[in-house]
Amino acid sequence: MQAPNNNVLPKFSGRPVSSHKQQNSPLDNKHAARPSETRTIVITGTANGIGLAYLRYYAQNPLNHVIACDKDPTPLENIPNRRAAVSTHTLEVNDEFFLSSLSTFLSGRPVHLLIHCVGVRGLNPQVEREAPSDVTAAEVLEATGKKMLTQTFNVNAVGTFEVIRTLLPSLRAASEQLPGEERARVVVMSSRMGSMSQNTQETTPGGYAYRASKAALNSIVRTFSVDVPDVFFMLIHPGRVNTNLVLCCEEGSISTDDCVWKLIKIMDADGVQNLPSGLFWDINGQQIPW
Ligand SMILES: NC(=O)c1ccc[n+]([C@@H]2O[C@H](COP(=O)([O-])OP(=O)(O)OC[C@H]3O[C@@H](n4cnc5c(N)ncnc54)[C@H](OP(=O)(O)O)[C@@H]3O)[C@@H](O)[C@H]2O)c1
Repeated sequence: MQAPNNNVLPKFSGRPVSSHKQQNSPLDNKHAARPSETRTIVITGTANGIGLAYLRYYAQNPLNHVIACDKDPTPLENIPNRRAAVSTHTLEVNDEFFLSSLSTFLSGRPVHLLIHCVGVRGLNPQVEREAPSDVTAAEVLEATGKKMLTQTFNVNAVGTFEVIRTLLPSLRAASEQLPGEERARVVVMSSRMGSMSQNTQETTPGGYAYRASKAALNSIVRTFSVDVPDVFFMLIHPGRVNTNLVLCCEEGSISTDDCVWKLIKIMDADGVQNLPSGLFWDINGQQIPW
């Protein structure tokens, strides 16, 4: 038998993300959902960008119950063909009150998939406003300060830790009810800029806050993958996407819908759960070195 190549993902066969028989109300049936029935999916960062595109995707399937979280209201009126049950939840990832309210809301109900899209770019806001198309100018050494470093680290790294920790009982509950070797999944939006080995003279200068916070995020998610083997973790770099992360539209950026379609292919590649948990992938299914 050929050993699996852990650096490249297997092909995606295009099977549906969620499965099978329909139930009337996934919300009514707190602990009764069997694996062949509804799936609960928590998505963070759904007010904008990649998180909103994920919500549009999963909201089309009536077998899904989607819990959409953001610190700002999630615009459900922008979700065409909404057939899933969608609940919205206010979540500021650095605020204990909202984390504990999410935990109470879930109260151990199984969550089969967590997609964590909350993130900030860690730019100097004044420099960015003055020259929106020059992202580098807003993150070089001279533009970087302690406040920006701390805020970015808090959202991207500490916030990610808190969100995953809050959802762990629900993720474990889902793993217990899933068939065979299948486990609940956590998919976290990282960035290639968090790769320390790819930070060289050839890449853009600076980026202290974003790079450090995403490297820390990678380390946190990797550590969860070691500590919690009954849940499957993936870190993904979504590519350059046209969102509100920066004020300008960066050259070569793709739409959020195109991005999410590519990400789904990676998340749902055949046999992906047979690969080690806690790896760092790019949008083409290639493994990114730490
Ligand atoms: N876009 C890209 O090219 C790109 C490339 C690589 C990686 N990523 C990563 O992909 C993820 C999604 O980014 P995106 O491009 O979709 O950006 P986005 O459009 O700005 O979406 C991020 C969402 O997270 C929310 N958010 C920010 N801070 C929060 C907090 N403390 N608590 C709760 N919600 C908060 C934002 O709300 P506000 O808008 O109100 O702040 C926004 O709705 C991020 O982790 C980002 O680093 C994006």
